[in-house]
Amino acid sequence: MADGRRIAIGADHAGFPLKEHLRSLLEERGLAVQDVGTSDESSCDYPDFAHAVASRVERGDADLGLLVCGTGIGMAITANRHAPGVRAAVCSEPFSARMAREHNDANVLCLGQRVVGMGLAGAILDAFLDAEFEGGRHRRRVDKIDEP
Ligand code: RB5
Repeated sequence: MADGRRIAIGADHAGFPLKEHLRSLLEERGLAVQDVGTSDESSCDYPDFAHAVASRVERGDADLGLLVCGTGIGMAITANRHAPGVRAAVCSEPFSARMAREHNDANVLCLGQRVVGMGLAGAILDAFLDAEFEGGRHRRRVDKIDEP
């Protein structure tokens, strides 16, 4: 059954090949993919794409985001500037990806192409997409994130 959710995706040069691979997986699952770039492996700056994806999630133009760079770290740091609407998590294995959704209501998944292979990245993405926020006590805690 088609998923139907809208997902904005972006990568820098260090994440471009993995982004292309994951876009195919997303389309196979039936998600509506909004690709903000980059479009080749020419050197570019990860914040440009992190801001573009996070802005779409922040505005409600996308339900989820996927960002890929060398490590995922720069993407996550940048995307998390879009608070309170964006909660970005770097994940290197499926368990963390599931928990990021179930407990943290993460809505942007960040991956490092220099950290995970294509197969593992696909499993991480599936875990993220298959999980749902559990709410309850986790809702209270997520609400406190923006109350320093
Ligand atoms: C690019 O060399 C690299 O720094 C970038 O892709 C990312 O890993 C930053 O967090």
